[in-house]
Amino acid sequence: MIRIAAVGDIHLGLDSAGVLRPAFETISDSADVLLLAGDLTRHGTAAEAGVVAREVAGLGVPVVAVLGNHDYHSDEQAEVTAVLEEAAVTVLEGAGTVLDIGGVRVGVAGTKGFGGGFAGRSGGEFGEPQMKEFIRYSRRCADSLRRSLDELKESGCAVRVALTHFAPVPDTLAGEPPEIFPFLGSYLLAEAMDRSGADLAVHGHAHLGTEHGMTSGGVRVRNVAQPVIGRAFAVYHLPVRAAAGSATDQVPVAAE
Ligand SMILES: [Fe+2]
Ligand SMILES: [Fe+2]
Repeated sequence: MIRIAAVGDIHLGLDSAGVLRPAFETISDSADVLLLAGDLTRHGTAAEAGVVAREVAGLGVPVVAVLGNHDYHSDEQAEVTAVLEEAAVTVLEGAGTVLDIGGVRVGVAGTKGFGGGFAGRSGGEFGEPQMKEFIRYSRRCADSLRRSLDELKESGCAVRVALTHFAPVPDTLAGEPPEIFPFLGSYLLAEAMDRSGADLAVHGHAHLGTEHGMTSGGVRVRNVAQPVIGRAFAVYHLPVRAAAGSATDQVPVAAE
């Protein structure tokens, strides 16, 4: 059993030092890895990232993150990434990482993702260049996620997790105003997960949403935005199955 701790939307500012540290200090008692689902800062400054870095440094478990839209706000996303990486946080954008957890290869594929909406109510690559670029960017994020998940499968990961900031499904947005769903996520992310397979999908961004959801292909989705989970982090237990590539490496398809 692999224990995945996850939280997003912690939105730490310069006055937040020490707020989460007491809860994170003992995380290795209950989890094998900590995933951070973006919006780690309020305005995306390198200084705020420094606060985040000190909260999650030296926890005794690997920490893997994607950035969120807030972490891009000051155009310092490269600096934010560098500050987090100095604290040994693996920051993913269109990439995957393999962790060795008690001899089990656990893969995490990460992208911030983007909006565009959900099946039947989504934007398309049509009309103005700005609209085309909006959807193309979302598609590039989703394509990178599928490639990363495929690579993790090929490298023999027994457990694969998709980590995004934007939501792959509308289920976990329940509670948000429906008018803003297209700005909260994209069905393209779920398509990527269903095509490649994943044991768990974790996202944030939707502060008023719902924790539990599922893709149409049966991938469990969890909205770990801190206001949603109402605690420092959630922990999900994933069974270890036969290594990827074997006949048993099929994501079970479950009815919603
Ligand atoms: Fe947020
Ligand atoms: Fe966000």
